[in-house]
Amino acid sequence: MSVCEFKPGLEGIPAAQSSISFVNGQEGILEYRGIRIEDLADNSTFLETAYLLIWGKLPTKDELIEFEHEVRYHRRIKYRIRDMMKSFPESGHPMDALQASAAALGLFYSRRDLDNPVYIRDAVVRLLATIPTMVAAFQLMRKGNDPVRPRDDLDYSANFLYMLSEREPDPLMARIFDVCLTLHAEHTMNASTFSARVTASTLTDPYAVVASAVGTLGGPLHGGANEEVIGMLEEIGSVENVRPYLEDRLQRKAKIMGFGHRVYKVKDPRATILQKLAEQMFDKFGYDKYYDIAVELERAIAEKLGHKGIYPNVDFYSGLVYRKMGIPTDLFTPVFAIARVAGWLAHWKEQLAENRIFRPTQVYTGHHDVAYTPIEQR
Ligand code: ACO
Repeated sequence: MSVCEFKPGLEGIPAAQSSISFVNGQEGILEYRGIRIEDLADNSTFLETAYLLIWGKLPTKDELIEFEHEVRYHRRIKYRIRDMMKSFPESGHPMDALQASAAALGLFYSRRDLDNPVYIRDAVVRLLATIPTMVAAFQLMRKGNDPVRPRDDLDYSANFLYMLSEREPDPLMARIFDVCLTLHAEHTMNASTFSARVTASTLTDPYAVVASAVGTLGGPLHGGANEEVIGMLEEIGSVENVRPYLEDRLQRKAKIMGFGHRVYKVKDPRATILQKLAEQMFDKFGYDKYYDIAVELERAIAEKLGHKGIYPNVDFYSGLVYRKMGIPTDLFTPVFAIARVAGWLAHWKEQLAENRIFRPTQVYTGHHDVAYTPIEQR
């Protein structure tokens, strides 16, 4: 390949060699370390999947117990971090709060002892354990309440839902939330993962790696799309309005949020699983008219844009599930981040194992030998 062949968005250009996950976008296949996502959704838990991604194999029973135990007992955040978060403006976006808080962990733990497996393990555990606590703490503090202490008797997902609502969640709801985390844990070389790997390649600390990835995930073309899906379904308002709304958007060449993907040209397998989870939620906890609107929109888009490979992506049904759980819309992307920390950390470790600092080239399109014009002559 010539260095002059510029590909906007680096489409089709490998940025790393990786054995963490695999996507076949034509057939709608996603695997973590070779295991199909459907298998993990049915049989695994988020923490077990995080272990698989980060250490490259499923844990034994003892390894899993030890890992869960470590994560459980590192959930509390330092008072100084909590006090710092208290000073954040309550109108600020929770993704910005999360990015700042994740970076702030580096103030306390940034020894950058990257050759030491104990440091690596410690950072993995601390980030997986504290990111949910920070998301929940900001949610309560922006409403003027004190954060809730994590509950050691609850598992990872149930504890997060508890910290958010101050109520112990229904077990089915906690299990569905855990599956959602598993589905969002990793997805090859997406924008935030690329960002994490670029940051990791400078040998900075893992807190800076996660903070930079959180910042990248927040944009509406990436993780931020799930928030916008709910706004769109509310704007459509009824099943009858789906087609007129779609016509109008397409005429204005506007994108439909939650649809399309750089890699998948069929329905994202995670969207298929999330749709089933949404149905389980509505069966148990009550009907939601926005689900019918979503299904009709999917049908209409398949007719209009199916030939371009535009189908629901992971963000389309996740918002409906989270809304039914009572999670505020602007926490959808931070919840995505809670899950994706597992993938980012796996890529951080993989990057360190064979590191070369990222330093791509560019195609220069400017001038040469331009004379400096004194300010009074401009
Ligand atoms: N609605 C309508 N048309 C679309 C959509 C969409 N959501 N997505 C792509 N298209 C069309 C484009 O208009 C374009 O058509 P054209 O060839 O006639 O001009 C064609 O499909 C290719 O689109 P690109 O934007 O070039 O595709 P790209 O691979 O760059 O973008 C992306 C992928 C960013 C995900 C895009 O599909 C999009 O913006 N979707 C909406 C936002 C969204 O849901 N993002 C979440 C992605 S999943 C994730 O990050 C977790």
